[in-house]
Amino acid sequence: MDIFDKVASNMGPLGQYADQGYGYFSFPKLEGDISNHMYFRGKPVIVWSLNNYLGLANHPEVRQADTEASERFGLAAPMGARMMSGQTSYHQQLEQELAAFERKESAYLLNYGYMGMVSIIDAMLDRHDVVVYDSESHACILDGLRLHIGKRFVYPHNDLEKFESQIKHAKKVADSSGGGILVITEGVFGMPGDLGNLKGILQFKEKYGFRLLVDDAHGFGTMGNTGAGTSEEQDVMDGVDVYFGTFAKAMAGIGAFVASEKRIIKSLTFNMRSQIYAKSLPLPMVVGSLKRLDMIRTHPELREKLWTIVNALQSGLRANGFDIGHTQSPVTPVFLKGGVIEVTQVITDLRENFGIFCSGVIYPVVPKGVIMIRLIPTASHTLEDVNITISAFAEVRKNLDSGKYASGGIPPLADKF
Ligand SMILES: Cc1ncc(COP(=O)(O)O)c(C=O)c1O
Repeated sequence: MDIFDKVASNMGPLGQYADQGYGYFSFPKLEGDISNHMYFRGKPVIVWSLNNYLGLANHPEVRQADTEASERFGLAAPMGARMMSGQTSYHQQLEQELAAFERKESAYLLNYGYMGMVSIIDAMLDRHDVVVYDSESHACILDGLRLHIGKRFVYPHNDLEKFESQIKHAKKVADSSGGGILVITEGVFGMPGDLGNLKGILQFKEKYGFRLLVDDAHGFGTMGNTGAGTSEEQDVMDGVDVYFGTFAKAMAGIGAFVASEKRIIKSLTFNMRSQIYAKSLPLPMVVGSLKRLDMIRTHPELREKLWTIVNALQSGLRANGFDIGHTQSPVTPVFLKGGVIEVTQVITDLRENFGIFCSGVIYPVVPKGVIMIRLIPTASHTLEDVNITISAFAEVRKNLDSGKYASGGIPPLADKF
């Protein structure tokens, strides 16, 4: 068989609807300045799909810092990987500030959180080590685990009883292989919005002797008194051995970091292959991130505004009888009933007739027969946005309950690939 024929005919789980959905349900183009109101296919929409939690993407001070750094350094600098020629004092300064913010000894920058997490896992483990991880872990954790040739045990999402039984298995294996145990969970789970039970997990730490790695992509900047994340929220900053945050969400940038003890960061620095063999983060991203971190530290009102919007949206949806699951974070899922036809109709109706841009997922992300629409409130939204959106959801639910959507196929809205 020609490998080209195979590749072209096997579109994979995400590509299977490419011809019906390209440009609309997948790869939609949101246009205009990043904010609560943007344009989709020329029409104004209220946007609930961007992880711009603190509204930093277009904050005038952030834009100014980005512009000045781009003018001063250009996008090329520094050239090469950190280890070879891409080291700068700005990278080191950002690492020191992040470590202090997370109350860890040391931190290291990562070019993209996804690649970084894959390499953290790869660099920390060998064949004798055992991993215990949450079943709803992000793809970057699962892909890091693909590189792990030792044993792994998964526990059902946030199920502490099953966690303990898996950690017992892990301990047995590790004791006989001479390896260690790494537990991995997310801080805020990005789809359902509930928190990893870090405190609960840590109750078992002494008994079983493991280390805890937390992916806090959605918690960094949004959770905790100072925005230091889910570990601060649950008052377990010391118990989290390795803390991972990305700049792609609350920081509205690109890049990520890992923070831990100095000896661990030293070892990771020399062993994370996706970082050793890839170009250093461009200086405007680093200098821009210094500004963003400063905004998180010095503008608590941004987080307060975020939570005002989160509370209004979540309590309003609940008061209107919507099931929003067990979220404890800004991530707001709305669960409705239906399948592929209904989800496409709901999303289309919201976008075309109510001016609301959000995305939905169905099985296998959620159980069969369930639609999950995920809303991301931010500090840039207004209470008016919230009210308009809740009314629109109430109308859409009426249409869904009356069976109006069930007869429609996927609307012919796709662009040509
Ligand atoms: C839980 C989680 N971890 C890691 C990542 C990857 O971060 P980045 O966009 O910096 O690669 C994401 C982004 O979607 C995420 O949600």
